[in-house]
Amino acid sequence: MPTKEENPSQSHPEKATTREELVDLLNQDLEREPQAIISYVVYSQVLKGAEYMNIAGELEKHAAEELSHALIISNQIDYLGGMPAVTPKQVRTSEKAKQMLQFDLENEQETIRNYRERVRQCDALGEYAMAEHIREILMDEQDHLIALATALGEDVPVIKAPRSTKNT
Ligand SMILES: [Fe+2]
Ligand SMILES: [Fe+2]
Repeated sequence: MPTKEENPSQSHPEKATTREELVDLLNQDLEREPQAIISYVVYSQVLKGAEYMNIAGELEKHAAEELSHALIISNQIDYLGGMPAVTPKQVRTSEKAKQMLQFDLENEQETIRNYRERVRQCDALGEYAMAEHIREILMDEQDHLIALATALGEDVPVIKAPRSTKNT
């Protein structure tokens, strides 16, 4: 007679994210969206110099896309029975154009790292539609990253998986 302990599929259980934890994590994602909106709104208007005119126009488009992300993430939090967060994460400012773009580049990397993890967590919970919504946001965020890296004349940075999801 088989026992529960002998079920091979459960012999090495990964620590699964609960729905409550997912709400908390999505709220952290949500706090990054208004942060991005504010920085793109401000930077797109204050960037000076002929070499930055293209990217300034690009940043205006980013701002609008970040708003749509905030709405999608809020909708997912509400669907999970949570209350969407209302505080944006701190926005960094600089007088220097290059430094502003560098801040955005770093934030986008952090955002992408988190959304990639969120897709895995949603899939693990069987929330496939939510994972799909986040994949669509990820496509925008990767475009943002590429635009910023290009404006800075840098290679697009490789984004490493967070420590918690490494299979070691
Ligand atoms: Fe976003
Ligand atoms: Fe973005």
